[in-house]
Amino acid sequence: MTSEQTYIAYMMRLRKSASLLCAAALACAPIALSQTGVTAAAADGRVAAPSISYPFAFLRNDAAWQTRAAAQAAHGTSQEVAQTPPMGWNSWNYFAEKVDDKGVREAADQLIATGMKDAGYIYVNIDDTWEGQRDVSGVLHSNAKFPDMKALADYVHSKGLKIGIYSSPGPRTCAGYEGSLGHETQDAQLYAEWGIDYLKYDLCSFNSDVMQKQAPKDKAAQMRLMVTAYAKMDKALKGTGRPIVFSLCQYGWDAVWEWAPTVGGNLWRTTDDIRPEWDRIYAIVSQQAGLEKYAGPGHWNDPDMLEVGNGKLTLAENRSHFSLWAMLAAPLLAGNDLPNMKTDIKSILTNRDVIAIDQDRLGRQGTRAYSEGEVDVWVRHLAGGALAIAVVNAGDNRYSTHPFHLSLAKLGLHGPQPGKDLWTGKGITLSDGQPLELSSHDVLLVRIDAPK
Ligand code: GLA
Repeated sequence: MTSEQTYIAYMMRLRKSASLLCAAALACAPIALSQTGVTAAAADGRVAAPSISYPFAFLRNDAAWQTRAAAQAAHGTSQEVAQTPPMGWNSWNYFAEKVDDKGVREAADQLIATGMKDAGYIYVNIDDTWEGQRDVSGVLHSNAKFPDMKALADYVHSKGLKIGIYSSPGPRTCAGYEGSLGHETQDAQLYAEWGIDYLKYDLCSFNSDVMQKQAPKDKAAQMRLMVTAYAKMDKALKGTGRPIVFSLCQYGWDAVWEWAPTVGGNLWRTTDDIRPEWDRIYAIVSQQAGLEKYAGPGHWNDPDMLEVGNGKLTLAENRSHFSLWAMLAAPLLAGNDLPNMKTDIKSILTNRDVIAIDQDRLGRQGTRAYSEGEVDVWVRHLAGGALAIAVVNAGDNRYSTHPFHLSLAKLGLHGPQPGKDLWTGKGITLSDGQPLELSSHDVLLVRIDAPK
């Protein structure tokens, strides 16, 4: 079978199981199939998925969201994992290729010592450069930096944490290490034997070595090869029987948010790599506007791992970065040097009120309500009817000579709104047209429990 045939067969299976579910629940409109996926479902506003629950589906009445939810249900995506955006730590943003067994154990220890584990940071994720060589049977071994991966996983688990790993559908990872091409089932089994709980699967050389070679000049065929590669690893992971969070990393190509749930993706990178620079962080944030309808329990947009505490980011920039990731229902994967973390960075990463926004059980990603010059206003609907508002000044200082005036009317709110400023921890009452003094790249983040 060519990979294109495999892809079509895969989508046919998806349609078949979706139809069976619809027949059982009498709640779906016919599902149409195209080569880009399932294109219609659930016309009556409900999700026909007896085997999984979307408790807030009544709030998600847009057709696109329902389409993906039905596709996910049909595919049997495990709803045990990533019900809220995954939280933890990842080695890449600070340590890159310097990560080793000792550093991962220290990160696990520090998650506990700093209170981060208690705040929700559970996954300890090893990114690229752990891979060694395959033996004659094709079994992949870790390299000298990781003498015993099973023992490391046991150590992380003994702390009440979970462990993640990294690979590529291509022959080589982005850093040039061994990828999973042709060994997907074998690698998934190996991860399960080690006790791995999370896989980040990074496109890397699959583009140059497979997509461009097998389908030169045919972008659509290249993209189908890519989708098939992710579906293949999804199947391999599911075949292990172990719940493993599946994190797609292919930089947002081909509107990944539209198809990732159909290949079991629990999260998917929406952009190219983050860097610890305000301009890059802000550019990524701007690319998230409009993607909110694709996120929900079990399947999240991923604007990349956190840079909080890295590079030369100011405290204001660190606060804004963290606030915006919370508004975006983004995975919170700290990427800093935990053993040497400064107190003010720890305070940002462990701010329980902000984490509660990110982890809100409703799972509705925030939207950019409006922008005025360089100031953006984001809102996020929370469980129980609460609302979070983030006002970010991406430009210069806005002091009392020329403050920003917040329009509550534009947010559909009427009259004074009592809430909590999540960075001062104090009460605040917002009023329409209220002047706000915002330092450069700083944020006002307010939670309103009973918006009117
Ligand atoms: C890519 C990914 C990064 C990181 C590196 C590792 O650039 O986007 O997040 O995983 O590869 O090589």
